[in-house]
Amino acid sequence: STTNAAAIHRHRPDYTPNHIADPNYVRIFDTTLRDGEQSPGASMTPNQKLHIAKTLARLGVDVIEAGFPAASTADFDAVKAIAIEVGNAVDWEGYVPVICGLSRCNKADIDAAWEAVKHAKRPRVHTFIATSEIHMKHKLNKSRDEVVEIARSMVKYARSLGCEDVEFSPEDAGRSDREFLYHILGEIIKAGATTLNIPDTVGYTVPSEFGQLIADIKANTPGIENVIISTHCQNDLGLSTANTVAGACAGARQLEVTINGIGERAGNASLEEVVMTLKCRGQSLGGLYTGIRTEHIVKASKMVAEYTGLLVQPHKAIVGANAFKHESGIHQHGMLKHKGTYEIISPEDIGLQRADESGLVLGKLSGRHALKKRLEQLGYYFEGKELDDIFWRFKSIAEKKKHVLDEDLEALVVDELFQP
Ligand code: KIV
Repeated sequence: STTNAAAIHRHRPDYTPNHIADPNYVRIFDTTLRDGEQSPGASMTPNQKLHIAKTLARLGVDVIEAGFPAASTADFDAVKAIAIEVGNAVDWEGYVPVICGLSRCNKADIDAAWEAVKHAKRPRVHTFIATSEIHMKHKLNKSRDEVVEIARSMVKYARSLGCEDVEFSPEDAGRSDREFLYHILGEIIKAGATTLNIPDTVGYTVPSEFGQLIADIKANTPGIENVIISTHCQNDLGLSTANTVAGACAGARQLEVTINGIGERAGNASLEEVVMTLKCRGQSLGGLYTGIRTEHIVKASKMVAEYTGLLVQPHKAIVGANAFKHESGIHQHGMLKHKGTYEIISPEDIGLQRADESGLVLGKLSGRHALKKRLEQLGYYFEGKELDDIFWRFKSIAEKKKHVLDEDLEALVVDELFQP
């Protein structure tokens, strides 16, 4: 309908691989099921992968990299099942994610990827080959010219199978020679790639460098205006989110991320950090925005942690258990007056339901204001000397326990009310 078409245009302008309707729209490519699953010990069952893919679709990610079909029959089957089920479930907005399969630059891998994803409404084959000197010499044992020829012919091969959406990654781009990158990427565009992904495979770059790399590729690669530039930042130095955001500011319009930042070694840029950075600060970054329905973030984070067994650290940005908790008295006092004093994101924006709507955690650093407020939430009203009494007894419990729970407060209240 016209209404739905208008909604699509407003929220999610790109419905064909090459069409760039809104230059500020940033596509989110989730690789939890491929790079994320490469985290040591994180393997998932095909059913769990399907569940996660459905959750990613609910989140509204633009592209789901569902796996590496040539890696095993199980991965092939999982990617195919996702392509059939999730890749055809068009929602009321007209949205359906692209389903992508990874392949090395060889015919057998590309055949497997295409066979698995071709059932989706919007299938994509993602193929890669290394372009840094260290990888070409020691891993591939190939010259620059040989690497260009393999990449060019394999992108053409993927297109010849009927795949209209082909992504190419020069692996270890962060450590590759610039002039060589411009050359190989230009050849790849001529061969028919629709997205050029620039991986910082070993998380080596710093944000200013990675941003400059994207800007230089944009300025110097022939034909680049016809394709989407993408980022893929690993987290070896803890800079993956910063590098990804720097890439977006420099012109990348697809960002590769994973839920909870899981992935090889120290992981990838995390979906929740990148998306919430653009949601919270996008206006200051030139109006960049994504189509992610952020209220599903917490659910997705919990599901991935449960299925992979990779627990989220409590102080992790956005989805850590402490991300919206306030313990010190000064912060609690501020929070009670106005939530904006110490919160830049509303927890409801990511789908977090707090038991205590103020987010206050009572511990040894908490002040009288927070205690009084929590007691009131529990239905007890104390002022003056009574509040003083209960506050000092609360403090002595807090010295011995990490967190003072509602049961502890109930016991204190009973003591206060019934003391002789
Ligand atoms: O880290 C990397 O280089 C990759 C590519 C296959 C995109 O995962």
